[in-house]
Amino acid sequence: MCGITGYLGPRSAVDTALNNLKRLEYRGYDSAGVAYPNCTHVQVVRAAGKIANLEGVLLATPHAANVAIAHTRWATHGGPSESNAHPHGDCSGRIAVVHNGIIENYASLRSELVASGHQFASETDTEVLAHLIEANLPSGQPGPEEIAGAIRVALRRVRGSYAIALISQDAPDMVFVARQDSPLVIGIGDGETFLASDIPAVMRYTRKVILLEDGDFATLTSERIGITDLHGVPVLRFPIEVTWDDAAAEKDGYEHFMLKEIHEGPRTVRDTLRGRMAGKGRVELPGVAFTPQEWAGFQRFVIVGCGTAYHAGVVGKRLFEQLLHRPVETAVASEFRYSEPILDAQTLVILVSQSGETADTLAAMRAAKPKGAKTLAIVNVVGSTLAREADATLLTQAGPEIGVASTKAYLAQLTALTLLGLFLVQTRPCEPTGATQETIDTLLWGLHGLPAVLERCLQDEAQIASLAESLAQHSSFFYLGRGYDYAISLEAALKLKEISYLHAEAYPAGEMKHGPLALVESGVAVIGFCTQPITNEKMLSNLKEVKAREGTIIAVIREGDRVPDCADAVITVPNAAAALMPIVTMVSMQLLAYYVAKARGCEIDQPRNLAKSVTVE
Ligand code: G6P
Repeated sequence: MCGITGYLGPRSAVDTALNNLKRLEYRGYDSAGVAYPNCTHVQVVRAAGKIANLEGVLLATPHAANVAIAHTRWATHGGPSESNAHPHGDCSGRIAVVHNGIIENYASLRSELVASGHQFASETDTEVLAHLIEANLPSGQPGPEEIAGAIRVALRRVRGSYAIALISQDAPDMVFVARQDSPLVIGIGDGETFLASDIPAVMRYTRKVILLEDGDFATLTSERIGITDLHGVPVLRFPIEVTWDDAAAEKDGYEHFMLKEIHEGPRTVRDTLRGRMAGKGRVELPGVAFTPQEWAGFQRFVIVGCGTAYHAGVVGKRLFEQLLHRPVETAVASEFRYSEPILDAQTLVILVSQSGETADTLAAMRAAKPKGAKTLAIVNVVGSTLAREADATLLTQAGPEIGVASTKAYLAQLTALTLLGLFLVQTRPCEPTGATQETIDTLLWGLHGLPAVLERCLQDEAQIASLAESLAQHSSFFYLGRGYDYAISLEAALKLKEISYLHAEAYPAGEMKHGPLALVESGVAVIGFCTQPITNEKMLSNLKEVKAREGTIIAVIREGDRVPDCADAVITVPNAAAALMPIVTMVSMQLLAYYVAKARGCEIDQPRNLAKSVTVE
């Protein structure tokens, strides 16, 4: 989705803001723009398409400035054109604003502003903000306090979500920012101040950041940050130190972020386990803020997320039911909120999210709390909204994930869910659980050795790449499995469709003959997961049914297992405990999706129509 950067300080503000904006390219966008004060007015430069197009225009435009705001737009209101690109200005051209989010009451505000003489130049909801602020400015040359006042008054009339940054010709050494339901990060440098929608955009320059909270309004100079609420009452926000490695936000020699992040899978799992596998076969979750009584009191579990994070929850459900013998539901966050969920004080709602900023997941958490349920965020970004608002947080340690298609974060989410399941078992020693001690010990040992197992999966990269070349010719894919294998097939199919634009559908293998089998013919590829001894025989029968209809079969089997006669090709994965096989298998599936997309010449890190961080509902 849209990205914002800004800079105030001694460097070239436009170049710095644009360089940082490139670090947000992964969020997905279709136009870009920048604004900076010059001697007579606020200069706005925009271009449809990539940031490189904008840089092309800037080559012919003088852009020396010490203050700049920049933006990548992902079209919502109005198509992806130069005129709809941000920044947007007021009638006088004295202010320019960039915005992430959606102004829900923009239509009525626009009619009101048009009626009072304002002229609009775009179809966007954002432009309403510029004119609304203009309407609240006193005539003449307003000072910084008056500009700040006008912004606050305007924002109090706005319904919806926003992160905004605004510059004014009348306060050329300042940037005004505000946040409601859309993230905004202020980076504190030495005599310079940075601004961005996401931490990786400023990490190259500073590790000291302030994460604005909903309702915050801030006035920035290169030396000072003043934060108030929308009524001008000062609020205190303390900076946090980011510990992520800056190299993690670079491609580091890999052709794509996605490939690099697949290769970071083993490290991610190792980091997520670190400090949580205590001696004597126990799990510890330091910092997860529930009391022993609260932990022991949870009777039901609901796991909620979007996209990949939801798929992690589907695996988690099976695992929790197996370990705890308690009811566990999963829900897509956008459905959960409107589904009248039955929750009470004994329900733990687990919200899974890489970014911690996904609008639907936040809305789900906010819907669960008033019903008395406790909320636990499994989240990758420290200080994110989800991490701040949930009753407790279990951090995954994936580091920054840049590729739109989530890879290492999924492995970290599954690892965290496994730790959580095992921890929950420990919190109720007097209860007969569904899991035997043997199952628990196997899982604990399995987790311990998991990073090394994942390293071995990566060794098959060349073989998977060559298989992908031949699969890229197929028009349609089914991913079939049962139990854990079905859970993994959901995420494996999502990976392929996200980046290769091929039709890919996950199905419980046993359901094929209740409909989808009608679609199988020559040219259809079927990835059949056979990693669960308990269901393998039935899986093989299902694959034979596909073979009889001339589908191409790729069987995913464990090392040492017999190669099915009906398979046209095989992907072999290392053996691990049944509940850990989704993590093991996924590395190969991520590689497969990557190499199919590459063979088809797709734009892997920024697939069409998709965004990394979906901050609107
Ligand atoms: C988008 C991304 C997915 C991600 C989903 C949820 O759709 O493209 O990769 O799984 O959002 O994001 P979250 O940050 O909440 O995990």
